[in-house]
Amino acid sequence: MAAQINPSILSADFARLADEAKAVQGADWLHVDVMDNHFVPNLTLGVPIVESLAKATSTPLDCHLMIEDPDRWAPQYVEAGASSVTFHAEAAHAPVRLAREIRAKGARASMALKPATPIEPYEDLLPELDMLLIMTVEPGFGGQAFLDIMLPKIRRTRELIAKHGLELWLQVDGGVSASTIERCAEAGADVFVAGSAVYGAQDPAEAVRALRTQADT
Ligand code: DX5
Ligand code: ZN
Repeated sequence: MAAQINPSILSADFARLADEAKAVQGADWLHVDVMDNHFVPNLTLGVPIVESLAKATSTPLDCHLMIEDPDRWAPQYVEAGASSVTFHAEAAHAPVRLAREIRAKGARASMALKPATPIEPYEDLLPELDMLLIMTVEPGFGGQAFLDIMLPKIRRTRELIAKHGLELWLQVDGGVSASTIERCAEAGADVFVAGSAVYGAQDPAEAVRALRTQADT
């Protein structure tokens, strides 16, 4: 699969979200970080803003829920217009039931792992998912340094996906930039979230194209 680049609007201007979404036209997905001040020590946005954003852009929304009790809230993000919903393994009470519910409502189901959460206990759940997200920073904030120590986990996860013959996408999120994306791609990631590397650039749309070219080579 060709590399997909998902700009994270966490690094955008929240007062101009519709324009900021348009600034990255050509991106595969728009990554929307939902934080509740409990699962992570930061607060961002919720269902009403996702609903408005879905109407304001034709780029599909990739909602990353860094919240407690995603079992209760994730389905509402599908109803709000998200095309992919990621919940955290550490927060979900019944990940299989939740993934099935997200899929049944018509979105792609995805599960995220914080840096200290291993992939191995989740091997048998992989067929229930459309994407697995490996965090390459501690979730909560944009602009943090990429954790190189996550590269072996990306590699092991890619091997598990191949072993089971799955079509699962493998996403990385945190510190992805021109200086780290090639290592992620080489380790087996194929979907790349980039916040500061895209919105911090002079020309965000051009930054998306450049990252995609780098990941594909
Ligand atoms: C961090 C968020 C990321 C964040 C990435 O908790 O999940 O999506 O926006 O930002 P950068 O690319 O700047 O590390
Ligand atoms: Zn994210």
